[in-house]
Amino acid sequence: MAQGPSTDWRERIAPDEEARFARQAEKLAPMQAALSARYGPGRLLHRKPALAARGTLEILDGLPDYARHGVFAAPRVFEALARLSNAAAAVQLNAKPDIRGFAVKVLGVAGAAALGGTAEAQDFLFVNQTSFGARDSDEFVDVVADSQRGLPAVALGLVRRNGLVGGLRRLKRLAATVSRPFSGFASETFDTLSPFTVGPYAARARLTPLKPAQAGAKDYADDVRDRIAAAPLVYGLALQFFVDEATTPIEDPTVAWAEDRAPPLVVARLTLKAEEADVEGLRFDPWGGLADHRPLGEIMRARKAAYFHSQKARGAL
Ligand code: HEM
Repeated sequence: MAQGPSTDWRERIAPDEEARFARQAEKLAPMQAALSARYGPGRLLHRKPALAARGTLEILDGLPDYARHGVFAAPRVFEALARLSNAAAAVQLNAKPDIRGFAVKVLGVAGAAALGGTAEAQDFLFVNQTSFGARDSDEFVDVVADSQRGLPAVALGLVRRNGLVGGLRRLKRLAATVSRPFSGFASETFDTLSPFTVGPYAARARLTPLKPAQAGAKDYADDVRDRIAAAPLVYGLALQFFVDEATTPIEDPTVAWAEDRAPPLVVARLTLKAEEADVEGLRFDPWGGLADHRPLGEIMRARKAAYFHSQKARGAL
């Protein structure tokens, strides 16, 4: 039985987090530098874009009061940009198994920013997964860094961290996550995986194509480019609200939030209308928006440092 959204969520911030995030940055910086020396300045992760598009985010009318915060406060149409990407640090063939990213920037926003001052945009970052593969940011950063030295290094790192049985279990999950076939940006669902505030509430968001398309045999970047050239691509943006710590944990990103307990509520419609020339120099960052949508949980707190360092290194700050 669904319980309904609750404001009773809580973050658990460990005293050593800042030091851990600084160590993570030290580990990741040389990797980004090496890859940028090879490919030119670029993002530490999600380096290769599939497509950049512009369009609109239309906030729906008739939403319940608990959803009416931040960009969802009132029915209106925002201009928006999207950057679709491969998650890999390296530039590789689109056909290679990978996680896919869908970053959205809502423009023309005005309000108190999550990091202080005033926000002029609100970013939401999605991937084609339903839960995060790593238990915490240390494990994630180790996997990312070790992956530069191949699968045996990743396996060894996971076993060292989780023991033989636990490590192999995580390796299996990671392999299944990355190798899951991708049917395309016009057919899959994308999720923020980690929560953020919606005023006094907490939620995760997901994007689902309104009319999921049949997967084509084409390269997925060509596929989405051709589709947008032919007709706008429309997605429902739904929020899944925090109900309780067991069902919708704030600090454990490995748990998918069950739809029967936290039913997705469609609050907006994202329409991609045309290809955009270039968004490579822009920042898409979960911390770049409103205080009303402040990122929550350890993974999100780690991302504050990681995105800052990556943006700085690629000259976007
Ligand atoms: C909840 C899980 C996560 C999601 C949904 C996610 C999603 C994304 C997406 C969609 C992008 C591409 C943004 C763009 O197109 O400009 C991105 C970039 C990036 N991600 Fe994540 N990510 C997650 C977790 C993490 C974690 C845990 C870290 C590191 C601790 C991380 C580090 C990065 C970095 C460094 C970039 C490049 C930032 C830049 O230079 O613009 N991500 N992520």
